[in-house]
Amino acid sequence: MGGLLRRYWMPIAAVSEFDSKSIKPVRLLGENLTLYKDLSGTFGLVDRHCPHRRADLAYGFVEQCGIRCNYHGWLFDQDGHCTEQPYEDVANPQARYKDKIRITSYPVETRAGLIWAYLGPEPAPLVPDWEPFTWKNGFVEIVFAEVPCNWFQCQENSIDPLHFEWMHMNWSVRLGDKVGPYSPRHLRMEFEEFDYGFVYRRLREGMSESDPMWTTGRVCLWPNTLFTGDHFEWRVPIDDLNTLSVTWAFTRVPKEREPYVQGKIPAWHGPVRNEARDDRNGGEWISSHIMNQDFVAWVGQGVVADRTKEHLGSSDRGIILQRQRFLNDLEAIARGEDPKAIIRDPAINRSIQLPVAERKLLVDGLMRAELLAHPILGHHYAGDYVFQAGRPAEVATAFKEAMGI
Ligand code: FES
Ligand SMILES: [Fe+2]
Repeated sequence: MGGLLRRYWMPIAAVSEFDSKSIKPVRLLGENLTLYKDLSGTFGLVDRHCPHRRADLAYGFVEQCGIRCNYHGWLFDQDGHCTEQPYEDVANPQARYKDKIRITSYPVETRAGLIWAYLGPEPAPLVPDWEPFTWKNGFVEIVFAEVPCNWFQCQENSIDPLHFEWMHMNWSVRLGDKVGPYSPRHLRMEFEEFDYGFVYRRLREGMSESDPMWTTGRVCLWPNTLFTGDHFEWRVPIDDLNTLSVTWAFTRVPKEREPYVQGKIPAWHGPVRNEARDDRNGGEWISSHIMNQDFVAWVGQGVVADRTKEHLGSSDRGIILQRQRFLNDLEAIARGEDPKAIIRDPAINRSIQLPVAERKLLVDGLMRAELLAHPILGHHYAGDYVFQAGRPAEVATAFKEAMGI
């Protein structure tokens, strides 16, 4: 599975994080790496350790081109070449020892305010240009969380419509110290594969068959993403036992605020654990926000969920389809073929359309009063960031300013 996942670009950081620093240590797919932005503005991703005597490059410093080790000054560019060895270059220049030194390096690209890395075999495919990345008049924020469990149980949550009713709706009722009423029940669920993943559609009590949740649905986006129309959630494997949750959330400004052009896309890390034990909620994990509730499910399944002890039911058809598709993809890469949803054609990679239930609202916008009254998106405008706990005050201020609330 590691070999399969390496064939996809992974979002690992936000561009705006590098407004205040030039180096960030990252761990991705089991490798310790150093992400940096040099003085000319080029991003690079290299090994965490210097190939001289293994000093930590997260404590290095960047130059016009590349990152320099703080121990003896060896300098490396974004392609992994050693371009300076200050003492060797003076003492023994004819040896050109630096030409024999390479540091592990991986391609990085920026898109939609995110920094993406590719750790797979060449030639690298394209970083997907999903349609929402090109939408206008939106306030975008990027949110991270480190979740201490395997990425795949997180991704299985991306094709699990039923949990919405219980984990987010009904559990929230109980967390609010009420015993009811519970939310409308799921009556039907459908799953359909398409080029970039699976669509899941749900029909709940009281819902008409013309409801966009039934006609359009939501997207389990390949290979490690949930896409709900206004936000993406990537489950990026840090290693087998830890996942970096990366959210890219788009909130449409009211029509009164158009044209709105966002200066920079803010990024923040949210906490996952309660600082003080909260016995009512089981104690350890924050449960107040939608994705924090998901995290409770994921870590609760164990560091790596033991599938031999599961009892799948008819609500789990999507889980089974997803597992089967990954098994088929493992066979595909063994045959030397691309797995699902690899994009190589630049003509295709232009604002790729995905199923979006609320596209008209998100693209064309609504007046403020209509947005606030919207049954699904309305509460996004009411105050706090709904998906994750811990939005910093300065991001909240920028959000309110953008929305005019
Ligand atoms: S350990 Fe990096 S230059 Fe010596
Ligand atoms: Fe969820």
